[in-house]
Amino acid sequence: MVIHKKNLKKANQVVSQLKDKISHHQWRLKYHVMPPAGWMNDPNGFSFFNGEYHLFYQHHPFSPEWGPMYWGHVKSKDLVHWEELPIALAPSENFDKDGCFSGSAIEKDGKLYLVYTGNVWVDGPLDEDLKQVQALAVSEDGIHFEKVVGNPVISEIPGGDINTFHFRDPKVWKRGNSYYMVLGSKTKDNVGQVLLYSSEDLFDWQFISVIAKGEGNLGYMWECPDLFELSGKDVLVMSPQGVKPEGILYHNLHQSGYVMGEVDYKTGNFKHGPLHLLDFGFDFYAPQTMEDEQGRRILVAWMDMWESEMPTQKFGYAGAMTIPRLVTMKNDRLYTTPVPELKELRQNEVHYKDFTIDGEISIKDVSGDCLELEMVIDSQEATQFGLKFRVDEATNQETVLHFIKQANVVTLDRNQSGQGPGGTRQAELKSMDNLHLQIFIDKSSVEVFINGGEKVMSARIFPTEQANGIKFFADSSIKLKHLYKWELG
Ligand code: FRU
Repeated sequence: MVIHKKNLKKANQVVSQLKDKISHHQWRLKYHVMPPAGWMNDPNGFSFFNGEYHLFYQHHPFSPEWGPMYWGHVKSKDLVHWEELPIALAPSENFDKDGCFSGSAIEKDGKLYLVYTGNVWVDGPLDEDLKQVQALAVSEDGIHFEKVVGNPVISEIPGGDINTFHFRDPKVWKRGNSYYMVLGSKTKDNVGQVLLYSSEDLFDWQFISVIAKGEGNLGYMWECPDLFELSGKDVLVMSPQGVKPEGILYHNLHQSGYVMGEVDYKTGNFKHGPLHLLDFGFDFYAPQTMEDEQGRRILVAWMDMWESEMPTQKFGYAGAMTIPRLVTMKNDRLYTTPVPELKELRQNEVHYKDFTIDGEISIKDVSGDCLELEMVIDSQEATQFGLKFRVDEATNQETVLHFIKQANVVTLDRNQSGQGPGGTRQAELKSMDNLHLQIFIDKSSVEVFINGGEKVMSARIFPTEQANGIKFFADSSIKLKHLYKWELG
C-alpha cells in the first residue's frame, strides 16, 4: 500500500511537470481523450459511478513509449468534456510489479472496483516469459484506489498444460445476482480464446469454460474480450492478434471485431457466427464498452495501432481514444455512431442544400482542422466521387475519402496526409443510394461514419497546421442534398 502510494505520487509529479510544455502542441486533439503527457494505449475501466462516466487507460507516464503500465484516469458528466484525474493504479506489488495491464471497472456496494491483470516478466522462452494474474483495487470516492488484501484473485491459468501464460484483460459485469468475467488467452498451439468465469463477490472466482476459440484465420491471441447482451443477442467483442489479410479486410497489424450468438451461462457454451470488424480504418484497437444509466451500450477504443509510427512521440506524448460511440443492432450487425452528446460541441453552423458538384471544388466556409461534417449525397450519374480534407495545395497534403460506385467500395487514403504512416484502407457498403456521411476531424485524427454507422473508418493523420482545406470531387455531377459543417469548440 505504501509503495503503491509512493509510485502514484512520483508518476503524477512527472506528468504534471511535463504536461504544460506540450498542452498546446499542434497535434494535440481538442475533443478526444489523450494522456496529458507520456504514452496511452487501451481504454480500461469504462464505467458509470456516482453520476459520472469514468474512463481509465493504459498509461506510461514517464515516456511516450510503452513501458510498465499504470492506469491513467479521466471522468465526465456528458461523455464530451473530460476532467483529468490523478493516476489510479501503479505497479507496486510482487504480482504486478511490471505492469497493471488492461481490465475493467464495476460498482459494488457503493464502491468502484478495478479488475486488472498484474504482469510480471520472468526468465523463460517466449510465451512463458511472463506471469499474468488477475487483481482488484477498490475506491470509495472513485478517485483514490487501493489494491485489496487477498490479491491476486485469480492466480493460475486453467489448463496449464495446453494454455500459455498469456491470460489477461478481465472484463467484469453483473448478470442477475452473479458477476461474470471474460479473459483473453492463448493456447500452446497459438490459438486465441476467451475464458468465462463467475463469482458471487468479485473476490472468489470459478472458471466455467472456454467460451470461444479462434479456429481458422482468427489469430494466435485474443486480447481485451468484452461480452454483453444487445437486442436479445450475446455479443463478444475482442481484439485478435495475428489475423491474416483477406481481400480488403484485416490489413492492420491487429484487428478488433465481434461475434454474435447465444451464451449458455451454466455450461459456458457459446454458439456464434463469424467475426465482423468494428472499424475499417487504420487506428482502432482494444475497444471496451459499458452500459450507462439510460441502458445505452457505449464503446471507446484506442485510436492508434501497435507498431505504427507515431509522430507525436518526438514531442512527449502518444495515443488517444476514439470519440465515444453508441452501439446498436441493425440488420444483424453492430452499428456504431457518435454519441448524440457530441452535438453540444457544434458551433458556427454552415448549411448548404441541393448543392451540385461536378469536377473538384472547395465550398465557401467549409474548411478547418477541428470540425464535424454531415451530408447526404445523391451520386446521380457519377461513378467515382468523394472528398479530400486537411488539404494544403502548396505542400501537396490531403487525406482522401473515395467512393467507387460500381464496386460499392469506399477507400480512405492517407498516403499524402503529412507525417506518419501512409496506406489505404477499404470497406464495402450495402448501397451508395442517398449516402449519409458524418465525419469528425480533430487536429490529428479523422473518424468517418457511413450510412448511420454501417461502416466506420478511423485514422490518425499528422498534417501541417496550414492543411485546412476541404474539397469535394466527382467524375460527373453529384448532388449534396444536405451539407452541414460545424466547428467543434
Ligand atoms: C492490448 C494489450 C492488452 C494488455 C495491454 C498492455 O493492446 O496488449 O492485452 O493488457 O495492451 O498494455
